[in-house]
Amino acid sequence: MHVTRVRYWILAILLFLYLAGVLILSAVTLHEPRNSGNGKQSDRVQQYSRIKNYEYGIPGLRPPLRRSKIQWCSELKYMDPPKPPVALVSFPGSGNTWLRYLLQQATGYFTGSIYKDYGLLKNGFPAEYVSNGSVLVVKTHEWGQDARKIFSKAVLLVRAPGAAIQAEFNRQSGGHIGFASPDRYKRTKGKYWQQFVTDKLESWKQTNLDWLYNFTGPTHVIFYEQLVDNLEHTLKSIIEFLDISVDASLFRCAIERKEGIYRRKRRVLNFDPYTEDMKKKLEDVQQKVYEAIYNFATPSKR
Ligand SMILES: *[C@@H]1O[C@H](CO)[C@@H](O)[C@H](O)[C@H]1NC(C)=O
Ligand SMILES: *[C@@H]1O[C@H](CO)[C@@H](O)[C@H](O)[C@H]1NC(C)=O
Repeated sequence: MHVTRVRYWILAILLFLYLAGVLILSAVTLHEPRNSGNGKQSDRVQQYSRIKNYEYGIPGLRPPLRRSKIQWCSELKYMDPPKPPVALVSFPGSGNTWLRYLLQQATGYFTGSIYKDYGLLKNGFPAEYVSNGSVLVVKTHEWGQDARKIFSKAVLLVRAPGAAIQAEFNRQSGGHIGFASPDRYKRTKGKYWQQFVTDKLESWKQTNLDWLYNFTGPTHVIFYEQLVDNLEHTLKSIIEFLDISVDASLFRCAIERKEGIYRRKRRVLNFDPYTEDMKKKLEDVQQKVYEAIYNFATPSKR
């Protein structure tokens, strides 16, 4: 009887020491700058992990130098008086965080969201979860009657489905600025990725078509690719649609700071994650939706 109890205690103490050791070791490793590896890559990894740790607000893991903190062109404020709420609709991975960032820079107003993403809340979007006319636009990825009914206008941000789905795959495994590792595409012999593409393509179509056909308020459609290629003009068109007057120097400042921290740097996979069959489906659906958009773009609705 006694012997068993002693054994039990020894085991408990060993276990405790082991856990304490693991904790101390991991804390030390996490604080150490990672200097190994080839310079550029590890720099980038370090930068991502720093932003990510900061993003999740883990105490003790905050960067000593907050190099990732956003510099705003002007102090952000709520809209006063409030305006009728405007939706910023997009399928995930279409660049809506970047567009929100650009709009906040250019107008000086907060943008909101129907979601409460803690990382965004702590990093430049304190009006996350505000979904009324006190904010410039309200982010939503939802579609259907309930999703549409609180809004009186909508900006629909559309990105080619292949790129958007891949960006969403990156976000789900790497956060707002991270990446999915190449083996994630190969999980369960590629079936996981294949199902992901099938499901997401369907919701890409639903989101865009539902807002296009069923939303009755004024709608301004913009393409992510247009935002990249012709930022000034596209951003101006959104601001005009929102009926906001913007100071020219603020707008210039926004353009100068267009990169922000919410744009994934390009990272090229050494393989194409889309099979020929997937590409064919992506193209078919994309063509159908883009045709609907072009037919919709009549002066009365734009
Ligand atoms: C908008 O929502 C926020 C947060 O829920 C609230 O504090 C604010 O008063 C609301 N503004 C209007 C105009 O309803
Ligand atoms: C538009 O609304 C109708 C009726 O609510 C719905 O059946 C249809 O699926 C919607 N269209 C799209 C493209 O989602």
